[in-house]
Parts: sequence; C-alpha cells; structure tokens
Amino acid sequence: MKMILLGAPGVGKGTQAKFICEKLGIPQISTGDMLREAVKAGTSLGKKVKVVMDSGALVSDEVIIDLVKERITQGDCRNGYLFDGFPRTIPQAQALIDQRIDIQCVIEIAIPDEEIISRLSGRRVHVDSGRVYHITYSPPKVPGIDDETGEELIQRHDDKEETIVERMAVYRKQTEPLVTFYKELCNQEGSKLNYYSIDGTGKSGVIRDKIFSILGNFPI
Ligand code: AP5
Repeated sequence: MKMILLGAPGVGKGTQAKFICEKLGIPQISTGDMLREAVKAGTSLGKKVKVVMDSGALVSDEVIIDLVKERITQGDCRNGYLFDGFPRTIPQAQALIDQRIDIQCVIEIAIPDEEIISRLSGRRVHVDSGRVYHITYSPPKVPGIDDETGEELIQRHDDKEETIVERMAVYRKQTEPLVTFYKELCNQEGSKLNYYSIDGTGKSGVIRDKIFSILGNFPI
C-alpha cells in the first residue's frame, strides 16, 4: 500500500500516521521528521534548511524530491509506505507521477483554523524519539517531561504562534491546490487512486477508527 496523508499543519497527520503504519506494517515517511533529523545532526542539508523551516516556509522542491527518491529505495519500503507531509506542492506530486509511483490512497484530514492554532501551540515533543504530546489533549504524566525517558520536552521553533499563522498561509497557497489535483486524478478513467476526506475534529482514537474503516476498502 502506498498512501498519502494530506492536510494543514497540526491536523494530526503525524499522530494518525503512527496508527496506520503500525496496522499496515509500512514505514512512515515524514519529510518534516527527516529534515529535523538533518538539522539536529548538523549536516550540510540541516544547516541549509533550518532557517527556512523556522520561518514556516517550505524547503525547495529539488531538495525534498531528492530526499524522498533516496528514501523510497530503502528495503523497508518494499511493501509500500505512508507519506506524511509530502507532497506539499504540485511539482512534488508531479515528481511522483514522473517516477511512475502509483499511490493507491490519499486521505485528507481537515479541522478548523482555530483548532490548528490550539493544537500546535500546545504541542510538545521529545526530540530523540519524536514522541508527541499536547499540554491539554494528550499531556505527559509530569508536565514538560517525557513519559518514557524522563527527559525534557521542547516546543518546536515553528510552533510559535506567529510562525503557525505563516505555515497556515503557506499551506493555503502552496499545498491546498493538491486537494483538487488529487481529486481530479482520482476521477480520471482507469485511475488506481482513491481519495478520501475526513473531519479531523474529535478524539484521536475516533479519527483513527474512521481511517481504519477506509483502509478496510483495500486488500491488505
Ligand atoms: P512537518 O513536520 O511536516 O509539519 P506540518 O505538516 O506542519 O505538520 P505538523 O507536524 O506540524 O502537524 P501534524 O499534522 O503531523 O500534527 P500532529 O499529529 O503532530 O513540516 C515542518 C516543516 O518542514 C515545514 O514547515 C517545511 O519547512 C518543511 N517541510 C516538511 N515537508 C516538506 C515538504 N514536503 N516540502 C517542503 N518543505 C517541507 O498533531 C499536532 C498536535 O495536536 C499534537 O500536539 C498532537 O498531540 C495533537 N493532536 C493530534 N490529534 C489530535 C486530536 N484528534 N485531538 C486533539 N489533539 C490532537
């Protein structure tokens, strides 16, 4: 199964990706996580993208496409994968088509803008493991501390309120056109692509169950 989770920042793509990947036994390919790892490791890529990411803008298509092309050649991608946060632009989506990568399922998750702000401004992460918490909706046992390691949680640089607003504007301008792009692709005769849109408000377990019921339409 090759699938895409599409949606604005903070709709819960990363949260749901974990459930889906565990269920299907496929890797989660999060370009955001890959870029953050490069920043943390201080690689030349990391140094190049840090300022862009902190500003809320998108990293160049060229960099992202190369990163993804390399990632999907790895052995764990043999039986499929889930893209989380990729593609983010029409050229990125077109690159998949040019590479003859057949995506079977695109799931768009949508929530109101006010909820995006509240989810992202309350998000806290454990850097080494990538574990994600929310100060209200899924708080750690001890405030500010990772449940498993006892280490401190941090707030992502791009989760400051002014950057969240910028990221939402970038989403509307550069990523939202993919909704129409994939709906049209899905409606083309002979298309293998299936497009679903779900309401992402409510508890994450409820959203997970909605997604699992969609996945029930596929021979897995
Ligand atoms: P990336 O890391 O992809 O960020 P994003 O798309 O903005 O998505 P987020 O990780 O912020 O949100 P999410 O939808 O995964 O939500 P989550 O599950 O964590 O990208 C970061 C940057 O990297 C970009 O700005 C760009 O610069 C660059 N980049 C990455 N990919 C790129 C690409 N393809 N092209 C160009 N540049 C790229 O949930 C959010 C919070 O809500 C959490 O606290 C969580 O606990 C909580 N939550 C989740 N579900 C629920 C629920 N149902 N109810 C209540 N709270 C919930």
